[in-house]
This record gives sequence, C-alpha cells and structure tokens, in this order.
Amino acid sequence: MSERTLVLVKPDGVKRGLVGEVISRIERKGLTLAALELRTVERSVAEEHYAEHKEKPFFGELLEFITSGPVVALAVDGPRAIAAFRQLAGGTDPVEKATPGTLRGDFALETQFNLVHGSDSPESAERELKLWFPEL
Ligand code: PPS
Repeated sequence: MSERTLVLVKPDGVKRGLVGEVISRIERKGLTLAALELRTVERSVAEEHYAEHKEKPFFGELLEFITSGPVVALAVDGPRAIAAFRQLAGGTDPVEKATPGTLRGDFALETQFNLVHGSDSPESAERELKLWFPEL
C-alpha cells in the first residue's frame, strides 16, 4: 500500500547545493516524486507547519531559519514512505542521533541546521501535504 509524505530540503540544504543528493537518495531508495517546488516560505505557512512546536523554546529560531531562504518541498510516494524517508534522514540531532549513511549523519552537524524535514506520522503527512501542496 502506497503512502505519501512531505519532505523539505531546508534552507541550509539548498544553500549548500545538497538538493540533488537528497533527491538522489530518495529515488535510489525506490520512492517516487509526486511534486517538487522551490519556494521561500511565508512566516504564516511556517507557523502552521510547525504549529505543534509553538511552545518549544526553539520555536522562534525554527521559524527564522525555515524562512531564511528558499526550501525545496517534495511530495514523495511509496510503500511506508513516511518511515522510509525518516530512515534516510536519520535522527533529529545529526551527531547524537543520526548515524553515518543517513542524510543528517553524513551532511549535518547541528540540530538547527539538519538539512531535511520529513512528516513524522500519517496525520502529520496529511496536514503538511494540504498546507504545502493543496492542489494534490
Ligand atoms: S521535539 O522536542 O522532540 O518535539 O523536537 P523534534 O521533533 O526533535 O524537533 C522538532 C523540529 O524542531 C527542530 N529543532 C530545533 N530547531 C532549532 N533549535 C533546536 N534546538 C531544535 N531542536 C529541534 C527539529 O529539527 C525539528 O524540525 P523538523 O523540520 O521537523 O525536522
């Protein structure tokens, strides 16, 4: 059974020229792209996207960062696509949690600049995909 997840290459990944690397790993895993867009996120969209973290101490920094430059948003399809992409991404902390071989383990050092986002559950995926790709 196929699933769809929302993936973001965050501003650090776009600035560092890692969009191709992220897409290549997604495709080599066997997942497929349903939509792809380069865009600068409006603050209101960022607030909605990260709404569940609004009480966290890092919420302000998270919004500043995600709106600081263009991101690449992807709708990604495949069997267990949500978990499959999170496996490719690695844990949130690129040093303490992500292992080598994952995107964050290979290309990131700081939690704030951890390269990619992937929906963490079917409910989040549905909510985030509606926000980023309402036309799908
Ligand atoms: S939590 O506290 O477990 O719910 O947080 P987590 O799910 O690991 O992270 C939620 C998103 O916030 C980002 N994050 C941070 N940004 C800036 N500074 C700090 N300290 C920080 N800690 C976590 C983290 O990268 C997650 O972003 P996404 O885009 O969902 O991966």
